[in-house]
Amino acid sequence: MKKTFLVTGAAGFIGFHLCKRLIKENIKIVAIDNLNSYYSIKLKKARMEELYKQGGDISFVDGDIEDINLLERIFKENKPQIVFNLAAQAGVRYSISDPIPFLKTNVVGFGNILEVCRKNDVEHLIYASSSSVYGGNKNLPYMEDSRVDHPVSLYAATKKSNELMAHTYSHLYSLPATGLRFFTVYGPWGRPDMSYFLFAKAILEKKSIDIYNYGDMNRDFTYIDDIIESLFRLTNKIPTPDKNFDAENPSASSSWAPHKIFNIGNSNKVKLIDFINIIEKEIGIKAIKNFLPMQMGDVHSTLADTSLLEKYINFKPQTSLNFGIKKFIEWYRFFYGK
Ligand SMILES: NC(=O)c1ccc[n+]([C@@H]2O[C@H](COP(=O)([O-])OP(=O)(O)OC[C@H]3O[C@@H](n4cnc5c(N)ncnc54)[C@H](O)[C@@H]3O)[C@@H](O)[C@H]2O)c1
Repeated sequence: MKKTFLVTGAAGFIGFHLCKRLIKENIKIVAIDNLNSYYSIKLKKARMEELYKQGGDISFVDGDIEDINLLERIFKENKPQIVFNLAAQAGVRYSISDPIPFLKTNVVGFGNILEVCRKNDVEHLIYASSSSVYGGNKNLPYMEDSRVDHPVSLYAATKKSNELMAHTYSHLYSLPATGLRFFTVYGPWGRPDMSYFLFAKAILEKKSIDIYNYGDMNRDFTYIDDIIESLFRLTNKIPTPDKNFDAENPSASSSWAPHKIFNIGNSNKVKLIDFINIIEKEIGIKAIKNFLPMQMGDVHSTLADTSLLEKYINFKPQTSLNFGIKKFIEWYRFFYGK
């Protein structure tokens, strides 16, 4: 019998791309998103329109994961076997000015997802964590076992909480769950609050771009197609208890419970200034640069060690930044008619 996949945050950047892939694979999807106004609702609706155009077996619920009664109804009616939780209040900077939505969606909403997953015997919950959990840790590259005890934003703290909550559910109720620490994801249909999007928009409009920490920052940028390929390969990799787990020398990525955690990154540390250069070249316009001090909540550098994931799914994200930015700019120009 065909499995049903449930995707939360389906109108979001990563959720949209995942649904597109699942439609291609002929999978039945129940998609949930509350279409909130954190960024352009028009863009979220356009992503949904694009999904409908693909013509797959997808039903969309305009709903909130904070609403446990709604989730219970959806799970009872659809009995999903595989659940992706990509709905979240994202945005490190926003979590500093407006922390409450982060607690509501990322902690309470995620708790609701865990509850309905356990009550409905979901086969596999795959949920989004973030590279931000590494926080103030400066020991690069980040491995899953690197310390994650010094978050610098509430966003990061909620993502770390998700990992702890999911592990607890795996231990107590044998819920198979995989948590993924995404490293700065970019690409077509991307998120308007992220730097690559803000830079491209400002450069095209001949407005200045804000460059924090005077440009002295590095990021591991991961192209969306690499994220989706990884997510898709993970669907059938249902975690089982790790028989070799050594509780006296515990590894963060596995457990005696059916729970795993992986980094997904490109394993390339790119200087912010080099990144801006690539965007400038692709657009063919020089940016007007406004250098500013470091912002609260930001981290200096990120770099993923993805060897565990590579071994697990036999895939390594490898898309080059030049190619990925080219694809993003092509989409941006087409979508906004610039
Ligand atoms: N994009 C990245 O670089 C990145 C990096 C690390 C982690 N992540 C995580 O990956 C996931 C997907 O990120 P994204 O970039 O696609 O973000 P996004 O904001 O584009 O997508 C999230 C979607 O969830 C929806 N949503 C938010 N709160 C909701 C709620 N209470 N109920 C139902 N829907 C709700 C939003 O409307 C949005 O469409 C998030 O959990 C995010 O924290 C993303």
